[in-house]
Amino acid sequence: MSMFRAADNAWAHGRLTQPSPGFGLGLRTAHYADFLAQPQRVDWLEILSDNYMVPGGKPLRMLDAIRAHYPMAMHGVALSIGSVEGPDRAYLQQLKQLVDHVQPLWVSDHLCWTGVHGRQVHDLMPLPYTDEALDVVVRNVRQVQDVLGRRLVLENVSSYVNFKQSHMSEWDFVAAVCERADCLLLLDVNNIYVSSVNHGFDAMGYIDRMPAHRVQQMHLAGHSHNGDHIIDTHDQPVSDPVWALYAHACRRFGHVATMIERDDHIPPLPELINELDQARRMAAGAWKEAA
Ligand SMILES: [Fe+2]
Repeated sequence: MSMFRAADNAWAHGRLTQPSPGFGLGLRTAHYADFLAQPQRVDWLEILSDNYMVPGGKPLRMLDAIRAHYPMAMHGVALSIGSVEGPDRAYLQQLKQLVDHVQPLWVSDHLCWTGVHGRQVHDLMPLPYTDEALDVVVRNVRQVQDVLGRRLVLENVSSYVNFKQSHMSEWDFVAAVCERADCLLLLDVNNIYVSSVNHGFDAMGYIDRMPAHRVQQMHLAGHSHNGDHIIDTHDQPVSDPVWALYAHACRRFGHVATMIERDDHIPPLPELINELDQARRMAAGAWKEAA
């Protein structure tokens, strides 16, 4: 039996994810008018939750107009699921209000910490991969899931340093969080590649260790190569090694919702749609190969 069939079987019997809505893009203000003007070759959109967590106003009006035509997933940056203090209650309530309003496909944030003692560091900081950190994350994810009444989707972040306290690999930590907290996974293929170069691990082996039945979504993005290290800048097209890794992920996970993230140097929408078409072709080829 091929790897794909094995994963697909597991899926049919034990899949915990929503069915894939296809290929999407991150909704950015520069493209509001394009999405409102005419139908675009985009199956779904991912919004940055934090940009819409203020009642009323133009952002929410635009969001409501666009979501009438596109299914949406919500993606946040400030839950700080790894914080010992736990998620901020006011933030969690605001998030719940937005979830109730948008009725998204799913809700995601990052497997990281973003603040301590009430102060935000405005960055997605990696965690030490220890039993203590695992307990904290599992407790926090359960709390969030209880408030939202749905499984949380967590994204692996890129990193540039390791904690000397870590006594397990990132992939074992990610898989353990998913199983113990009963949450889902947003696999950022670019982040895996960036960290694999920075830390010298096998990116394909990382993908092989992920729980296939919990992978809800994949992210693709560009990065900046700075000689001896790579930075996750999201400011350019997806690179060839990341496409190769994406093909491997498609062979292993089958049909999983895929989205391209561009946060800087945002090009005209048709350019991103062309890149999304490349993802469609890449995925179709990989699924065929694995069948
Ligand atoms: Fe991402």
